[in-house]
Amino acid sequence: MPGNAIETEAIKYTGSKLKLLPHILSLSKKVPVSAENPSVFDGFSGSTRVSQAYAKNGYRVYANDIAVYSKFFNTAFLLNKKEPEIYQPLIDHLNSLAPVDGWFTEHYGGNENSNTAKFPWQKKNTRRLDAVREEIDRLNLDEVTKAVAITSLILALDQVDSTLGHYVSYLNEWSPRSYKDLKLTVPKLRGNQQDNVVMNHDIFEALKSLPDNIDIAYFDPPYGSNNEKMPPSRVRYASYYHIWTTICLNDRPEVFGKARRRADTSDIAAASVFEEFRRGPSGRFMVIEAIEKLIREIRARYIILSYSSGGRATAEELNEVLNTYGEIIEIEKIDYKKNVMAGMKWTNDWIKDADEKNFELLFLVKKRQEKYQ
Ligand SMILES: C[S@@+](CC[C@H](N)C(=O)[O-])C[C@H]1O[C@@H](n2cnc3c(N)ncnc32)[C@H](O)[C@@H]1O
Repeated sequence: MPGNAIETEAIKYTGSKLKLLPHILSLSKKVPVSAENPSVFDGFSGSTRVSQAYAKNGYRVYANDIAVYSKFFNTAFLLNKKEPEIYQPLIDHLNSLAPVDGWFTEHYGGNENSNTAKFPWQKKNTRRLDAVREEIDRLNLDEVTKAVAITSLILALDQVDSTLGHYVSYLNEWSPRSYKDLKLTVPKLRGNQQDNVVMNHDIFEALKSLPDNIDIAYFDPPYGSNNEKMPPSRVRYASYYHIWTTICLNDRPEVFGKARRRADTSDIAAASVFEEFRRGPSGRFMVIEAIEKLIREIRARYIILSYSSGGRATAEELNEVLNTYGEIIEIEKIDYKKNVMAGMKWTNDWIKDADEKNFELLFLVKKRQEKYQ
């Protein structure tokens, strides 16, 4: 089995599994995988940290997320086959451009001398953003090179933002880091030797294009929020990170509200079923029905599922779904309050603790062969 490199690079991302990478990898190593070409499907890749870690550990990665920025990051980190230095002249060129006043400055740039910030970046940095983003389109780059340039731009913007890590509201006062100058660097890329696959679909579409012989499927869906007081559209990933979508697409969308979100992330825009609050016609929460469908339809030999406290799915429901379609082999619990990690021998034990807050679970499940089709 290849080495244990888990160094990854990404933006600040709600629900990122950065801290869990060693545990996800060690659970994965308990699974008997194809010796020559072990494969893994990361169905909700998000920041792409998990996909990157699997790729570094020699797995052939099939990475998917419905968010377009995730596709750009995955394209850069998983599809690049060149040495990172190759990109240095391009990054130097982008850093050398003269700042300009453009669409991003108009909507997202705040005055650094104003006490009330309420913008994600200072104008000096959105002017650079405007210049760099226009130049990337003008250069007509190939797919991987363009993804490397956009990833570099987004990583740099994430270093000088004035936010709490999402873009549905902005800080009242400028964060100290927002005073720094935007500077792009070459992302920590690797020259991938295996042929990874990047997808940008709704999960159920992605399942259809997977080959039959995937060793491990890692699922980290959003699980919906059970915060009844929050307008539903605000707690969706598409809203949290609307600005990254716009930077990738450079489509100058209609925007609304104080945070100037894309119109396609408003309350009336359709949400992912995994971010649904409501119950379906059967009386069950729609999110648990979606998880059931996911576990039923995935054609992988093993499944690793992440579960966080505070989501819509209850412990009993999840346990039932997992036991119907698979055999729970191991559960690991990460208790953020106590800062401990515990393996659980008895696979039903976790249910009684499920009312606690601030914990995450990792389930290793063997898919039942008779439920494979
Ligand atoms: C908890 S985050 C994943 C975090 C990721 N494991 C990481 O370490 O960064 C959930 C992800 O699911 C994606 N998502 C939501 N609904 C989806 C759907 N129907 N199909 C595919 N991806 C979806 C969101 O865009 C979000 O990136």
